[in-house]
Amino acid sequence: MKNTPLPINPDGSALKGIRGHVLTYKADPFLNDENECYDYYDDGMVVIQDGHILNVGAYNDIAPQYPELTDIDSYPDAVIMPGFIDCHVHYVQSPMIGSFGDTLLNWLNQYTFPTEAKFKDKKFADEVAKIFFRQLLEQGTTTANVFSTAFAESVDAFFEESERYNTRMISGKVLMDRNVPDAVKDESPEESIIVSERLLKKWHHRGRQLYAVIPRFAPTSTPKQLELAGQLYQRYIDQGVYMHTHLDEAQNEIDWVTQLFPDQPNYTEVYRHFGLVDRRSVMAHCCIVREEEWQTLHNCQCGVAHCPCSNLFLGDGQFKMWEAKQQDRPVRVGMGTDVGGGTNFSIPRNLGEAYKVSMLQMKNIDAIKAFYLATRGGAEALHLENTVGSLAPGYEADIAVFSLCPSEFAGWRMKFTKNIFEKLFALMTLGLDNMNIATYVAGNKVFDRKRGQQYMYASEFAETEYKPSQKQR
Ligand code: GUN
Ligand code: ZN
Repeated sequence: MKNTPLPINPDGSALKGIRGHVLTYKADPFLNDENECYDYYDDGMVVIQDGHILNVGAYNDIAPQYPELTDIDSYPDAVIMPGFIDCHVHYVQSPMIGSFGDTLLNWLNQYTFPTEAKFKDKKFADEVAKIFFRQLLEQGTTTANVFSTAFAESVDAFFEESERYNTRMISGKVLMDRNVPDAVKDESPEESIIVSERLLKKWHHRGRQLYAVIPRFAPTSTPKQLELAGQLYQRYIDQGVYMHTHLDEAQNEIDWVTQLFPDQPNYTEVYRHFGLVDRRSVMAHCCIVREEEWQTLHNCQCGVAHCPCSNLFLGDGQFKMWEAKQQDRPVRVGMGTDVGGGTNFSIPRNLGEAYKVSMLQMKNIDAIKAFYLATRGGAEALHLENTVGSLAPGYEADIAVFSLCPSEFAGWRMKFTKNIFEKLFALMTLGLDNMNIATYVAGNKVFDRKRGQQYMYASEFAETEYKPSQKQR
């Protein structure tokens, strides 16, 4: 956490303010006194300069420090939060969201692979990437850890669209060279790694884009492909490259892994054996995890994506949040929508489902913990906690504006709440689709529910945002 405030307006360039209720986290409320873990300002302001946060605090403290700041967007009925972080989602499954779910493995064969086969066509990939980003930004998600397909075209389409918005995103080519239809199967392990490395060199750290090595899951890669994937990851881990995969999602999947890798004592060890378990490894699901696997995930500082909507839809199993957050070996946990196993693009809606999954285990997740998972928790799972996921000086200015009255009824319901967290809990439980009303990416308002042109690319803001006439708003 960068606690030292930057100097006020260090280079004299234009300032922007966002005013409203402001909520941000500085520590994990699962592990600390939860009231020490966040800052909340009932009337707060975030000051932005050059795409970064310059200052945050109570409006009455902050405003006098910036007499030249007149360009202020005010949201009196909304909570200004860090943009939400989706730690696991398949953009390429947007066209098949809501397909009839049987078991995970049948659903993959029936719907997922045929859909993913279409992404060899760059035009189709472009179309889906465009729709996907709109869904994410509408819901207030500004960073995501994203599966593409085995086709390089789908990776290019994704990063090209991300670059247009200037979003901080993680993706890469999916690796799969067995147990999938020929239409989506890699030609050979060697070729799949050559293509991955070429994409990595093209996209990693280009602007805000970050690359991940993505073996889909152990059953769809040969040992040779996992070995080469591990070597690629280890060659680039110091440069911030990720490894992203599925782990321990459903019992029949785990049974299959046991058959395929009989020499390994558990599923996590399969990945570890090939050098794939390390500090930038992000594991989706982790519903059925043995104690020794939690130990490994903790020791290796892996991130875990909790995807409750998807786990419920596919009948996978229940994520054990309170095992993951065991005090003596806590694991970094963020939220994932896992579209298209997940049935919506909204991180707050997934929080509502995370609460219910936890309740089935006789534990609760209150709104303090929930919105931590949606923001700073996600950033910690992705090892980006010094970059995004908090509103503090020096952080990238990615912001969600979360309405406290998204509908007439919800606004009325708020009258019967005592504090901000009661309001947020009711809203994540209601799970309305229009709760996020504006989204800022690197300081640009790329989504505005009320604007004629709801979505705007970064290039459309060049110079115009800070013209004197616009400062008068
Ligand atoms: N395991 C391997 N592939 C997938 C996928 O596409 N979705 C989910 N939920 N689990 C998987
Ligand atoms: Zn998934």
